[in-house]
Amino acid sequence: RAAAPFRNEPIRDFSAPADRASLEAAIARARERLGRRYPLVIYGERLHGGRTIPSVNPARPSEIVGDVDEAMPEQASRALDAAAERFGTWKFTPAAERAEFLFRAAERIRATRDDWNALLVLEVGKPWIEADADTAEAIDFLEFYAREALRLAEPPPLTPIAGERNRLVYLPLGVGVVIPPWNFAFAIMAGMSAAAIVTGNTAILKPSPDAAVIAAHFVDLMHDLGLPPGVLNFVPGDGPTVGEQLVTDPRTRFIAFTGSKGVGLRINELAAKTAPGQRWIKRVIAEMGGKDAIVVADDADLDAAVAGVVVSAYGFAGQKCSACSRAIVDARVYDAFLAKLVPAVESLRVGDPASNPDVGPVINQKAVDKILGYVEIGRGEGRLLTGGTRISGDGFYIAPTAIADVDPRARIAQEEIFGPVLAVIKAADYDDALRIANDTEFGLTGAVFSRSEERLRRAEAEFFVGNLYLNRKCTGALVGGQPFGGFNMSGTDSKAGGYDYLLLFSQGKSISRKI
Ligand code: SER
Repeated sequence: RAAAPFRNEPIRDFSAPADRASLEAAIARARERLGRRYPLVIYGERLHGGRTIPSVNPARPSEIVGDVDEAMPEQASRALDAAAERFGTWKFTPAAERAEFLFRAAERIRATRDDWNALLVLEVGKPWIEADADTAEAIDFLEFYAREALRLAEPPPLTPIAGERNRLVYLPLGVGVVIPPWNFAFAIMAGMSAAAIVTGNTAILKPSPDAAVIAAHFVDLMHDLGLPPGVLNFVPGDGPTVGEQLVTDPRTRFIAFTGSKGVGLRINELAAKTAPGQRWIKRVIAEMGGKDAIVVADDADLDAAVAGVVVSAYGFAGQKCSACSRAIVDARVYDAFLAKLVPAVESLRVGDPASNPDVGPVINQKAVDKILGYVEIGRGEGRLLTGGTRISGDGFYIAPTAIADVDPRARIAQEEIFGPVLAVIKAADYDDALRIANDTEFGLTGAVFSRSEERLRRAEAEFFVGNLYLNRKCTGALVGGQPFGGFNMSGTDSKAGGYDYLLLFSQGKSISRKI
C-alpha cells in the first residue's frame, strides 16, 4: 500500500447536485444524533468525569452538539499512567503495524466523509467547502504520516567507516500531550495525534472544548480499528486546569500544541521547568498565531489580488492562523484596490453553515467580544470601509470587516484578531511594502501579488514567513506539497505535513558494531 505515492485527497466544491444532496443528508443524520454524552477514554475504558461541558453549534448556540465529560485531576493522572504503561509495548510495535492503523483510519474516513463534514458544519460552523477541506486534510495527514513512518523505519545511509557497521535508528520519545485547536477541528487534531502515535509514542489527546465531539469520534474510530488501549487516550478539560496538569507532569515527555501565542508561550514556559523525578527535557512542538500579510504591488493583477485577499481574510470567518489580516497595498493602486475590495467583501453571504453560505459564525461569545473589541480599536486607528457589526440573530455572526488607512504599527496591524477583520495599509512602494510585511513578531504565511519576476524573487529572499505564496491566496496549505509552519512568534517552525515533521516526535540512536 505504501508503494503508491502520496497524493492529496481532492476537495469538492459542491457544485454537483449529488455532492450537495449527500452532505445535506449527512447534516440531517448528524442532527438526529445531537446532544449525546461523550465520556473520557483512558486505556480504552470509557469513564465519566466530574462534570460535562456542552459543545454548542456556533450558528445556533441553543443546539448542543454533544456533552463532553471533563477529566478530574486524578483521571488525568490515571491517563498518564495508562499511556506510560502502554508505551512499554507500543514502542516495540513495528512501524508497519502502527502505520496500518493510519491507513485504515484514512480509508474509513474517506468512506464516511460527509458524516465528518456534517460534524464540522455543526460543531465549529464551517461552510461546506471549508469542512470538506478540513476532512480531506485529515485524510492527507493520516496517509502522509503513515508513509513517513515507514520511510523513517528504514535506516538512512551513513558514511562508511572501516571495520565497523553503523546504523541510525529513530526511537519514539514517550508519553505526549496533544493539544489541538478548534479551527482545523479534524485535520490538526487527527494530524498531531497520528504523528505522535505512528512514531511509537503514546498520547493523551486534550481536545479544545469547542471541538471535542469530533475529537471523540476520531478516538472512537481508532479504537474500532483495534488500536491497543492506552495508545490514544481522550482527556477533555480546560486549559488552566487539565491542560496545565498534563503539561507540568513529570511523566509527560513532549507536548504537541497548535493554538494561540499566549497559550503556546505558557506551555513552553511550564514545560521548561523540571519537575522532581523528571528524567528528560520536555520537547515542545508549537504552532501558534499569525498576522499574515498579502502585499499588492503596483503591477499586480488587481482582480486576482482582491479575490486572493477576500478568500484569505474571510474564509472560515478569518479563523485561521494562516488568514490574511493585513493587505499592504502600493499607494499607486491603493484607491483602485479599495474600490474593488469593498463590493467583493459586501457580496459575501453570511449565514448558517448548514445552508452553505460564504461565511459562517465565529466560534463562541468570547470570540465575538474579542473581535468586536478590536473593531472598536480599529475605528480609532483607521477608516471603517465595511462591516464592523454583529449581525443580529442567534448565532455568533460578525459582518466581514475591512478597515483602511491603518498605520503599520497600529494594534489592529500587529495583534492577532482571529476573526473576519482585515486591516488595509498603504505602502509608499514595493520596498516599503516588504518592510511593513516583515514588521511583525509573527512569521507564518504571506503572499505577494505582482507581475514582476524580480519582485517575486525579492519576496522569496526577503519576506520572512514559513509559508510564502506568490500570486495566490495565503491559506490552504496542502499536506506534502506545502509543509506548514512559521517563524518567530508563530511557533517552532514545525512543518506539519512535511518531511521533517515526524523527527520532532522521535530521537535518533546511533548503533556502531565492530566487524
Ligand atoms: N494549514 C492551514 C492553512 O494553510 C492553517 O492551519 O490554511
